[in-house]
Amino acid sequence: MKLTQQQLEQFEQDGYLFFPSLFSEQEMKVLRDEVPAIYKEFRPEIIREKDGVTPRTSFAAHTYSDVFAKLGRHPRMVAPVQQYFGEPVYMHQFKINGKQAFDGDVWQWHQDYGTWYNDDGMPEPRAMNVAIFLDEVNEFNGPLYFIPGSHREGVVAAGHDLKTTSYPLWTLDNQKVRELVAKGGMVAPKGPAGSMMMFHGCLVHGSPSNMSPWDRVIVYLSLCTVSNHIRRAKRPPWIAHRNFMPVMTLDDDCLLRKDVRGLPWPGHEVDEDAIKRADAPIAWTAEVAQKADEQEAAAI
Ligand code: SIN
Ligand code: MN
Repeated sequence: MKLTQQQLEQFEQDGYLFFPSLFSEQEMKVLRDEVPAIYKEFRPEIIREKDGVTPRTSFAAHTYSDVFAKLGRHPRMVAPVQQYFGEPVYMHQFKINGKQAFDGDVWQWHQDYGTWYNDDGMPEPRAMNVAIFLDEVNEFNGPLYFIPGSHREGVVAAGHDLKTTSYPLWTLDNQKVRELVAKGGMVAPKGPAGSMMMFHGCLVHGSPSNMSPWDRVIVYLSLCTVSNHIRRAKRPPWIAHRNFMPVMTLDDDCLLRKDVRGLPWPGHEVDEDAIKRADAPIAWTAEVAQKADEQEAAAI
């Protein structure tokens, strides 16, 4: 799968691309069938909603589930990002966002790169989300809202929200959102299971609660260019990965095959040298880290 010149231009303009029904229903069923087994486990990688029970975000399932390990190496998800950056990418974060029927809660307005920069010391916004709908996403079950063009603002001021969400998030204030929406408007990509979105690390986004009777499971790969690996090991390794090895893609039909050929089981490679390089001087400095810590302390 190769992005056309027109798609690349559209991405520059809007900060996202939407690919309805890129994966088949049969492929999505393979992934959906695996989700209950993941939710059943009370692992630290699974964040619950405020009720303490409903699964909200399951991190790093690609490190312990064969089918999600395949998804994390799927050429339809990884190749367009590699093409865009012109460089190999590693998996900075992998998450299954449940947003369950009736109980799935809001995600406040934010930019992912705000968190990747402040918390993880990622030098540049050379990282991207690619998301795939495991369920149909419609206007009722908590679709993602984007502000087109907001990625062109770079990193905008944000506060560290430790209360509203089930885990800390750097969120934007209402006035800033008002200004950005006045410029770019709002969109909510909707479509059948198997639809894919790719969006810039600085694109402002959020999502409302799911009051509908339909689950809305979306899986996100956050792929970062290898040279831009994180410099700060503040968040747990299942949230901000320390494995900076390039993602090696599998065959296009990997989800429909029973074998796990090409997966790095049982262990998985960690680039120890890259972790040692983590102290290298970069734009993200100790002062920035201190400021982030102070803001966090003030928010508590
Ligand atoms: C996110 O922005 O990280 C998640 C939003 C969502 O899945 O609704
Ligand atoms: Mn986000």
